[in-house]
Amino acid sequence: MNLIPAPYEFKQGVGSFRINGELTVGSELDLPLIKLKKSDNPDITVKKADMPKEAYRLTVERDGIEILAADKIGAYYAFQSLRQLSRAELGGKSIECCEIYDKPRFSFRGLQLDESRHFFGTDAVKKLIDTMFMMKLNVFHWHLTDDQGWRIEIKKYPLLTEIGSKRKNTQVGGWGSRKMIEGEYGGYYTQEEIKEIVEYADERGIMIIPEIDFPAHCAAAIAAYPWLACRELDREVPGYFGGVVPETVLGIRDWNRTICVGKDDTVNFVFDIIDEVCELFPAPYFHIGGDEAPKNEWKKCPHCQKVIKDNGLKNEEDLQGMFNNAVLEHLKAKGKRLIGWNEILKAGNLDKSAVVQYWTPQRDKRAEDFVNSGGSMIMSNHHSFYFDMTYSQYPLKFTYDYKPEKFGVSTENVKNVLGVEGENWTEWIDSVEVLDCRLHPRMEALAEVAWSEERNKNWHSFKKRLDAFKPYFDYLGINYAVDEVSLPKNLIRRGKIRKLFFKGDTHYEVKLNKEYKSKGAR
Ligand code: ACM
Ligand code: ZN
Repeated sequence: MNLIPAPYEFKQGVGSFRINGELTVGSELDLPLIKLKKSDNPDITVKKADMPKEAYRLTVERDGIEILAADKIGAYYAFQSLRQLSRAELGGKSIECCEIYDKPRFSFRGLQLDESRHFFGTDAVKKLIDTMFMMKLNVFHWHLTDDQGWRIEIKKYPLLTEIGSKRKNTQVGGWGSRKMIEGEYGGYYTQEEIKEIVEYADERGIMIIPEIDFPAHCAAAIAAYPWLACRELDREVPGYFGGVVPETVLGIRDWNRTICVGKDDTVNFVFDIIDEVCELFPAPYFHIGGDEAPKNEWKKCPHCQKVIKDNGLKNEEDLQGMFNNAVLEHLKAKGKRLIGWNEILKAGNLDKSAVVQYWTPQRDKRAEDFVNSGGSMIMSNHHSFYFDMTYSQYPLKFTYDYKPEKFGVSTENVKNVLGVEGENWTEWIDSVEVLDCRLHPRMEALAEVAWSEERNKNWHSFKKRLDAFKPYFDYLGINYAVDEVSLPKNLIRRGKIRKLFFKGDTHYEVKLNKEYKSKGAR
């Protein structure tokens, strides 16, 4: 059975269905994406049935194929399975008889893309959505703002894109490098483009959750509107991502600046942004980031200190907590839940209805206590789900072997885990080719973690099915990491590649992958 992700139940039948020419379909459900010819005596019959959301039953017999599903997406997933089983696009001429009953393990099966550090654009995002759809992933977390670029049009604050979407130069050569490539780098999505992409994803059962990162990672917004910061200084959108680059100018670390949450104007700005962004994204979630918020500016700011004093807050962490709670209430009034990275739990006063996304490389007892006491959580533990890391750092198996229990979630509280999500941060990912090499086959491993029951997961079986899937990467024009790269066996070589990455050759593994491929590696 060549199918990724592994289905819930699979029974092998006898014989096979022969594909003679173009397949025809007859459906009780409206399936606009299925372009097969309609027929009254079809090869594939789709019937509406009482089933869980996204589930389907697929029966392949010698004389016909039947799909049962409760909704459009369940039926599409059956077609996606049929697509891999038939390999029709790759020249397949038959489908082995079988019966599949399939449904997801987790309801939240996500992938994130950072388009602030590098911008990929509509076509690349749609292609990513297509591949997610093939893998039965259903959440696209869109990181649209960060220090190095604001990438979403906001009509009330036009300078966010006029100024905030452009930087003059870009750091290359990894963390700590002083090397900059000069030249304007920019790009953003208009609201019309956003609507088009949201609709495209929705047709494929994919919810898009926007992330507008507050209160930190706001240097691009502050460059556009300096009054957002505690100190109103004239600063540019930074082209560097972090490390030992000049950070001491005016004592400002431009690659991660925090807005002043002690001023009403700033908090109202955040509400205004949320109001506009919520109009574009129907998802019942809104991601406010909340990660890595330095408190040095707040400590010296009279506005921030006044709010702390007036509200009897313990410290600056609780000031962030108070800000988060205000945003959470604002979102709640719109029927939306706040998602934030696990640093938001540092605040002692955070409302328990927040959804926490656990990412930190260091274990976080607060995060683990939160999920084990009923809090809703999305798991993106660095070790398994930070796809921007090289394979020499995190081999493919780190993703495949993921279990929430390995990161402190007790067995009885796995039910509080909404799901898992892979992260594509793009400081050192400057093209689709590099992105794809880091992402595939990690996305396929993620899909199996997200969709398949633990009892149906098996590394050796996955590897075999992945080998069978690889022709699809070539067919779809997707760069992927071959075994030699994604499963580095040679520890000495692995150490060398890791060292080269830290010395600044951030594309070494991608180059090596190309070399291996040219020699016929898969
Ligand atoms: C993060 O990687 N700062 C969420
Ligand atoms: Zn302040």
